[in-house]
Amino acid sequence: MTPNQPRVRVRVPAKVNVQLSVGPARPDGFHDLANVFLAVGLYDEITATPAETLRITCEGPDAGQVPLDHTNLAARAALTLAARHHIPPAVHLHITKDIPVAGGMAGGSADGAGALLACDRLWGLNSPRAELLDICAELGSDVPFSLLGGAALGTGRGEHLTPLPVGAPFSWVFAVADGGLSTPKVFQEFDRLTAGTPVPPPTANPALLTALSTGDPTALAATLTHSNDLQPAALTLRPSLTATLAAGTEAGALAALISGSGPTTAFLAKSPEAAADLAQALLTSGTCRTARVATSPAEGATVVEHTAEG
Ligand code: C5P
Repeated sequence: MTPNQPRVRVRVPAKVNVQLSVGPARPDGFHDLANVFLAVGLYDEITATPAETLRITCEGPDAGQVPLDHTNLAARAALTLAARHHIPPAVHLHITKDIPVAGGMAGGSADGAGALLACDRLWGLNSPRAELLDICAELGSDVPFSLLGGAALGTGRGEHLTPLPVGAPFSWVFAVADGGLSTPKVFQEFDRLTAGTPVPPPTANPALLTALSTGDPTALAATLTHSNDLQPAALTLRPSLTATLAAGTEAGALAALISGSGPTTAFLAKSPEAAADLAQALLTSGTCRTARVATSPAEGATVVEHTAEG
């Protein structure tokens, strides 16, 4: 990296879905959702610097699993923004990856939202937030929430967001499994498991929204059983996750659920101290690759460094 180059660094959080209510498959293949997103404090960072052509690099323990071609949502974000403004996508995007890859925590979406914000600032476009959110929705169903952060109800395929109040921080442990799960395959499995039975329209659980707004972890935990309609599908595709969920419950988690389409499992704890103990117990149980402690909500995509040309 040349010292005098302009540089924009953006930090973007992971998410957990405290509710994922899934409706029947739509004619376009997507599913209508009532998706209660909560941003959690595990972050990827995207650093944008000028380059002759679009280039993606990635560092982090799981960097080897991240595609560096134009299928990466960060690349698609840069290409989409550049095309809209009729400018060349002349940027190097470096991803510092800490969010589990293909884990159901929106790591790819985070990189898309982060790259979009970083390119927008690097190229001096300063687009209005509503325009960035529109581009995010084009990139993927979860990408608008990665930009917004906090907590929100996502409807449609998850891209129409209504921010939600959160009364106090919640403490979580995320148990990371070996290997990822493909989101389309988990939705296909949901379709297979529900074939022949009527799937009701998705609805947000009012008790869950109240528990979020009061910040009461015990009340929230009481609403998390069966709150993720993708959980049976993820467990069918990855039966070993049943043991991870059981290990967290035995170790005192207030609630245990699959994060989004999995295979990361999420455990709600009553305090940061309880979360640290729970993470240790999960590691000792041998039912996960690693266990990460994080709190929610977290801020959405944020510019943490903007260096002008020296
Ligand atoms: O929007 P995104 O590209 O992240 O979605 C990935 C895949 O997940 C879609 O191609 C679709 O198979 C599935 N999906 C869905 N319904 C949604 C969101 C995603 O079926 N609401």
